[in-house]
Amino acid sequence: MFYKFAQKIMFQMDPERAHHLAMTSLRTTANSPLDSLYRQHITPTPVTCMGITFANPVGLAAGMDKDGEAIDAFAAMGFGHIEVGTVTPRPQPGNDLPRLFRLKPAKAIINRMGFNNKGVDYLVENLKAKKSDIVVGVNIGKNRDTPVEQGKDDYLICMEKVYQYSDYIAVNISSPNTPGLRSLQYGELLDELLSALKEKQLELSTQFNKYVPIALKIAPDLNADEIEKIAASLIKNKFDAAIATNTTLTRDGVSGLKNADETGGLSGKPLTELSTKVIAQLHGHLAEHMPIIGVGGINSANDAMDKIKVGACLVQIYSGFIYQGPELIKEITDKYRKTV
Ligand SMILES: Cc1cc2nc3c(=O)[nH]c(=O)nc-3n(C[C@H](O)[C@H](O)[C@H](O)COP(=O)(O)O)c2cc1C
Repeated sequence: MFYKFAQKIMFQMDPERAHHLAMTSLRTTANSPLDSLYRQHITPTPVTCMGITFANPVGLAAGMDKDGEAIDAFAAMGFGHIEVGTVTPRPQPGNDLPRLFRLKPAKAIINRMGFNNKGVDYLVENLKAKKSDIVVGVNIGKNRDTPVEQGKDDYLICMEKVYQYSDYIAVNISSPNTPGLRSLQYGELLDELLSALKEKQLELSTQFNKYVPIALKIAPDLNADEIEKIAASLIKNKFDAAIATNTTLTRDGVSGLKNADETGGLSGKPLTELSTKVIAQLHGHLAEHMPIIGVGGINSANDAMDKIKVGACLVQIYSGFIYQGPELIKEITDKYRKTV
């Protein structure tokens, strides 16, 4: 109810201003009596994935809380997990504004944010300060001005800094808004990156006596052959999970709409089927090796169940959360509990 009211106001505003207003409000009301405005009870519905037990199958996708500033507020809404980031070693401003666009009739968003974030050290401070014990994944990336061939070093720096404070680590090589980033999804660059991260994970797990699973987040814009090769590399390098998918460069289902021609990644309803298809294909290769976290265009409980049916163990929402509000967490969890 409160969300519908807040949404009416925010949808009158520029999307990025609305985002900052929402994040500031959440950050300042978290752990205060005012969090009752969005606090929601979700019937506990435990799901075990990557060796971690989640309170329910619904997580907040990466990109909403890039700096981990409102973890306790999102926990109060009832999410089963939160993926913060993408974070880079050094702070960076991201692309020029405007860079975030609503396509309301399609329940979609186009963004070309470009990993705007306050840097990994700031995120770590927020991870240390959070009060909630919700599962937190940290999504890591590379700085824009780090050449792709040296991108590996940025991921290793981030992994080392967040390791102790994360429940899992998501490796983002699928954002379309950092030039060259998606080239890390192919061939030797992929294999080198995954093997370096695996080696570092094992080193850190000994050092801290704590095993933090690592997951790879992939794009939806991959053909069957490319998906198979990524799966083979994930298996070879003993990754713990795959996250599918990030936003798409395609514009199917939005042509002619206002903002449809903006550069960037498209998310929300037009992505639903494409991302489910990628999950299904990936599951065909990974089934007995590692779980998949399904994300992309989940706008209803049925959308979430479609992803779970083809092999996802958990789901994440971003655009659907903007259009439907926190109620979507409850709807999905209730349906999941009755079906699975
Ligand atoms: C404004 C915006 C910013 C995003 N930023 C990130 C990011 O920093 N890292 C990342 O891995 N994914 C990012 N994403 C992608 C989402 O995590 C998700 O994979 C994608 O939007 C598909 O889910 P959806 O259809 O539920 O939005 C972003 C998405 C949006 C809309």
